[in-house]
Amino acid sequence: MTRRTTIGIAMNGVTGRMGYRQHLLRSILAIRADGGLDLGDGRLLWPEPVLVGRDEHRLRAIAERHGLERWTTSLDAALADPLTEVYFDAQVTPAREKALRAAIAAGKHVYTEKPTAESLAGALELARLAREAGVCNGAVQDKLFLPGLLKLKRLVGSGFFGRILSVRGEFGYWVFEGDWQSAQRPSWNYRAEDGGGMVLDMFPHWRYVLDEIIAPVRSVYAHSATHVPVRRDEHGAEYRVTADDAAYGIFELEGGVVAQINSSWAVRVDRDELVEFQVDGTEGSAVAGLRECRFQHRAGTPKPVWNPDLPATEDFRAQWQRVPDNGEFENGFRAQWELFLRHVATGAEYRWDLLEGAKGVQLAELGARSAREGRRLDVPALEL
Ligand SMILES: NC(=O)c1ccc[n+]([C@@H]2O[C@H](COP(=O)([O-])OP(=O)(O)OC[C@H]3O[C@@H](n4cnc5c(N)ncnc54)[C@H](O)[C@@H]3O)[C@@H](O)[C@H]2O)c1
Repeated sequence: MTRRTTIGIAMNGVTGRMGYRQHLLRSILAIRADGGLDLGDGRLLWPEPVLVGRDEHRLRAIAERHGLERWTTSLDAALADPLTEVYFDAQVTPAREKALRAAIAAGKHVYTEKPTAESLAGALELARLAREAGVCNGAVQDKLFLPGLLKLKRLVGSGFFGRILSVRGEFGYWVFEGDWQSAQRPSWNYRAEDGGGMVLDMFPHWRYVLDEIIAPVRSVYAHSATHVPVRRDEHGAEYRVTADDAAYGIFELEGGVVAQINSSWAVRVDRDELVEFQVDGTEGSAVAGLRECRFQHRAGTPKPVWNPDLPATEDFRAQWQRVPDNGEFENGFRAQWELFLRHVATGAEYRWDLLEGAKGVQLAELGARSAREGRRLDVPALEL
C-alpha cells in the first residue's frame, strides 16, 4: 500500500508568468491532479504549495481559483514555518539572491528559476552557502527537457553526426513596443536596472544547452544591441529601454565546435519554431526546435551548384527527415520538478544544482563583458 507524504513548498513569484503557468499550474498542480508523485518506495509525494508574494489580493485570487489554502505576503513567515521544506523562486531576477540566501539560512532546500543571481560572485556564493548548509539545491534548466532538444540529444548520443563542426541557433520573435499593440513580455525585461537584458536572460540557457547536448563552452564573443530604444509599459507609459534586446553570440566549444546563436526580441519569425538549432557534422546534420527535430544524413545530402541565373532547382527543406518521437514527452518544467522533488525526498541524484546555475550566470557575465570590450573571452572552469 502506498503512504502519502506531504512536502511543503513555499512558491515565491506565483503571480508572474513563469511562476504561475509553468511552475504552479503545469508542474505542482499537475502533479497533484495526477494523485501525487510516486516515489517508487511505497510513498506518494504530495506537494503542498504555500503561495508567497507581494500582493495579498492576487495571491488570494490564485489560491481560491485552485482550491489552495495557504498563501502569505511574508517570506519570513513562510520560511519560519517548519512545514516548509522547499523554497522555490520565480521572482524578478534582482529579488532572487536575497530570498534564496534567506531560505538557505533557514535550512530550506532551494529550487530556483534562472539566472540564479545577477552576478557570478552572487551565484557562486549561493552555491557555496547551499553546500555548506547541506541543503538540496537546484536551478531550472527547462530547455533540456524540450522534445526537440531531447531528440537532438538522442541523435548526438547515437553518433549520427560523426564529428560535430558547428551549431547555428536562432531564437526570438517580435515583442510589440506597446504603443499600437501591447507588449507580450513584462517591461522589466527591457530595463537593465530591473534585471532585464537579452544576454542575462538567454545566455544562461545557451550555456546548459551547449554544455550538455553538444560540448562544453570554452570561449565567448558577443555583440549586443538595443534595437528598439523606446517602449511602453503595462500602464501605457513610455519608458527608455536601457537593456539589450538582441544578442549575437559566437561560442567556441571543446573540440573546436563553433556555435553561433542569435537571440532577439526585434526579429520576425520565418522559421518553423521560436527557437531552432542547426547542427552540422561530418556524417549528417539536424535542425531541432522546441518540439521537432529533422535530420539529413551524408548519403542524402544534395550537391547544389551555385547559379544565380536559374531559379532553385530543388526543394531543399523537403530533403530532411523527421526524427520520430518514440515516446511521450511531458512538460519540461514538470519533468524537472519531479526530478528535484525525488532528489529531496529520496536522495536520488540531481545534476542541475546551483553550481550548474552559476555557469549560466558566468556565461552571461562574460558575454556582457565581451560585448562591452569588443573581444573574445575565455570561459574558465568554475569551482566552489
Ligand atoms: N526558464 C525560462 O524559460 C524562463 C522564461 C522566462 C522568465 N524566466 C525567469 O523567471 C523569472 C520571472 O520572469 P517572468 O517572466 O515570470 O516575470 P513576471 O514579471 O511575469 O513575474 C515576476 C514575479 O516576481 C514578483 N516580484 C517580486 N519582486 C518584484 C519587483 N520588485 N518588481 C516586480 N515584480 C516583482 C512579481 O510579483 C511576479 O510574481 C525571471 O528571473 C526570468 O529570468 C525564465
